[in-house]
Amino acid sequence: MYDEADVPPYTLPDPLRTLDGRRVTSARDWPARRAELLELFRTHVYGRRPAAASHARHRFRVVEEDPAAMDGAATLKRVRISTDHNGRTHAFEVVLFVPNAVAGPVPVFLLLNNRGPENTDPTRATISPFWPAEQVVARGYAIAALQVRDLAPDDPDTFTDGVIGLFEREGRTRPADAWAALSAWGWGGSRALDYVETDDALDATRVAVVGHSRGGKAALWAGAEDERFALVVSNDSGAGGAALSRRIFGETVAEVNTTFPHWFCRGFQRFNGAEDELPVDQHELIALLAPRAVAVGSADEDLWADPRGEFLSLAHASPVYALFGREPIPTDAMPALDDPLRVLPRQYHIRRGGHDLTTQDWGCYTDLADRLWG
Ligand code: GCU
Repeated sequence: MYDEADVPPYTLPDPLRTLDGRRVTSARDWPARRAELLELFRTHVYGRRPAAASHARHRFRVVEEDPAAMDGAATLKRVRISTDHNGRTHAFEVVLFVPNAVAGPVPVFLLLNNRGPENTDPTRATISPFWPAEQVVARGYAIAALQVRDLAPDDPDTFTDGVIGLFEREGRTRPADAWAALSAWGWGGSRALDYVETDDALDATRVAVVGHSRGGKAALWAGAEDERFALVVSNDSGAGGAALSRRIFGETVAEVNTTFPHWFCRGFQRFNGAEDELPVDQHELIALLAPRAVAVGSADEDLWADPRGEFLSLAHASPVYALFGREPIPTDAMPALDDPLRVLPRQYHIRRGGHDLTTQDWGCYTDLADRLWG
């Protein structure tokens, strides 16, 4: 069913070639090319967030604080983030554990949680390996989470009911590049980062945005849209995430757009069955993160997400990292199972097992953070 021999021959777009055909050769010329690429992804893949200069106002309120959480190991904060726009308000909550044993300000791992809220239980009555808060706190990092459904319901019929609707006029046809659920989830990550900037216990220059699967797609795009994220963690993000679309291995553009028409912008549907016509591919999404840190994780049984395609995106972003003096990741360097490849500030690992975010994956991501920030 999944056979590497079925991958068609393909030619990837060159991240360093500008739309008018020039070739970027220095870090100084990268920002202009980066802006072009970002626009291409907004127009054809993820849609457009509301402009930062829109008249939205954000407010933060700590609704609960417990300095003796986790048997004294951490301080719990629940932060309510509200956005006012055109006389209406949207609000969502961030749960945060800050290690007490570490002198601040501490780096933060922020999960865009696409599973049930019980996975990020502030009371710790439920402890989930999907968000192993005790483990991350013991490593000296703060850990936070938002619930993606609070930003945009994960449902084709109601996804505009969250923050998207706040910025839209009722009855107006949504343009082909209107933002959709993945972008709204990442937008929530940016608002959480706004809060981090106001909290002296936290280091806003060392925030990792983390996502698994659909959450991983959202995390990558959040890191592209918001350059304040110092580290982006993509766990099993697959199609429309780290995996190269042109490999047509596992989930295809047509499949993801058909089953989940509310994730990407409508413009992405033009490329159903026409991956070769995409003006971008997903290695250029990774390139948008350069020179910042990125970790890509796969699982060997998760062929639907195309582990090799996830690795190759990272490798094919190398020419952009090279502009910043970073060593290339060769396309033939995919590491063995359970043996992370680290070429700072990038990391790739492939774990034994199925589609999931596990404590082993979290261990790999905090290991990278130790190298980057330790
Ligand atoms: C489905 C979907 C994937 C997605 C995954 C998930 O399998 O096809 O694109 O990544 O759900 O979010 O777990």
